[in-house]
Amino acid sequence: MNQPGRLTGRLVALGITGSIAAFKAVDLLRLFRAEGADVVVLMTPSATRFVAPLTLAALSRRPVDADVLDLLPDGRIGHVITADAADVVVVAPATAHWLGAMAHGLAADVVTATCLATSAPVVVGPAMDGEMYAHPATQANVRILREEFGYRIVEPETGGLASGQVGVGRLAALERIVDAAIDAIGVRPIRKPDPADRPPRLPDGDDAARDADDLVGRHVVVTAGGTAEPIDPVRYIGNRSTGAMGIAVCEAARDRGARVTLIVGTASVALPQGMAIVRVETATQMRDALLEQLASGFDALIMSAAVADFRPAAPSVLKLPRTPAGLSLELVANPDILAEIGRRVRGIGEDGAPVPPALTPAPVLVGFAAETGSIVRAAAKLATKRVDFVVANDVAETGSGFGTPTNRVTILAADGTEDALPILPKREVAERILDRVGAALAGRDASE
Ligand code: PMT
Repeated sequence: MNQPGRLTGRLVALGITGSIAAFKAVDLLRLFRAEGADVVVLMTPSATRFVAPLTLAALSRRPVDADVLDLLPDGRIGHVITADAADVVVVAPATAHWLGAMAHGLAADVVTATCLATSAPVVVGPAMDGEMYAHPATQANVRILREEFGYRIVEPETGGLASGQVGVGRLAALERIVDAAIDAIGVRPIRKPDPADRPPRLPDGDDAARDADDLVGRHVVVTAGGTAEPIDPVRYIGNRSTGAMGIAVCEAARDRGARVTLIVGTASVALPQGMAIVRVETATQMRDALLEQLASGFDALIMSAAVADFRPAAPSVLKLPRTPAGLSLELVANPDILAEIGRRVRGIGEDGAPVPPALTPAPVLVGFAAETGSIVRAAAKLATKRVDFVVANDVAETGSGFGTPTNRVTILAADGTEDALPILPKREVAERILDRVGAALAGRDASE
């Protein structure tokens, strides 16, 4: 399922100018990476005041070029190398000031200088206040870029603006900008496939380079939060999962370059940006959503959701009245979703007989095991759910399990190895899990 992205092998030069929307460039960069692109970031000086170059360097794994007078360590002129190598230059967000400078060829910043020096297609996503965008000066500059320079303008959208007004000026949906870049490149050959002809990467060992990109081009599905099993229209059986653990996994996978799909039940933490999100309530809905993902394919599933094992047999359509005698509920077992996915992925039918596997090559499957007092029972879940890894946590331990920013986990692998980790922030736990997933995927590809 490691299908190449639509920009695999391409170099995208992402120019960021000083708009409040500059923060969205972080997600735009991630979307380009998820499409398999190599990205180099160019910033105007004012853009560096809105978003830290270090963040963009870490995510692109290249030094950010923010100074038109800067030379590369080997003496080459950075923006000329980028202009010669880029398959597309994307300027987003583009401010009114930048549109004016570009329309008149005033190359005082590295973004404008690169556009002047390149023969690659240029895609521009303006973002500014509505009145500024409507001004005849801005419109004239946009017209010059579009009609005289042949640049593709991804028109801004209508919506709430930073000024508090509502109007046309909000940066276009990031997916539209990515699609415009892909369209602009079309079937042109890759301009400079040799890395030596491209802007340099961060040296290994550089702090910012530590963010791995081992999941670029992979589709990772993550479940998070709890499920809510209705008793009546008002009440449900739920659990204490906040979604924090699963969302940490999603964010880490996204930052390592994966295309991520989050399937989330009840959650009380903020949902992440830069990924597809499917909201569900019940275990049955979560199963349906996962089977849909299985049909369309993924490279790894990390099942951190706390799925209710039982649900009321016959939820009431109307609110149940309070009765002095109390209430007895009949519960029936929910499907074991992960066990079913494990069975289908390994090509085993409901009756245990072999059937064609749902996906080839098999995705990496990771389950969690919520235990109390001891994690000895977790190892059995490796076999019953037919997964590659089980992440066991003792949810009764302080600082571990539900609703805490930290977790202590032991990663059990199907090959019998165990990795007992200390208490760590959930994001760090997520990175350790993804280290294992990334290595398993690389091993899988090597043995094909
Ligand atoms: O969300 P947080 O507040 O950060 O809390 C994190 C967490 C404690 C929820 C998380 O670390 C965790 O342990 N998640 C798994 C909870 C759980 O359901 O464990 P389990 O041992 O009951 O299930 C084993 C595995 O089977 C899990 O991957 C579970 O998602 C899956 N399962 C369980 C039941 C079921 N009917 N179908 C399933 O697929």
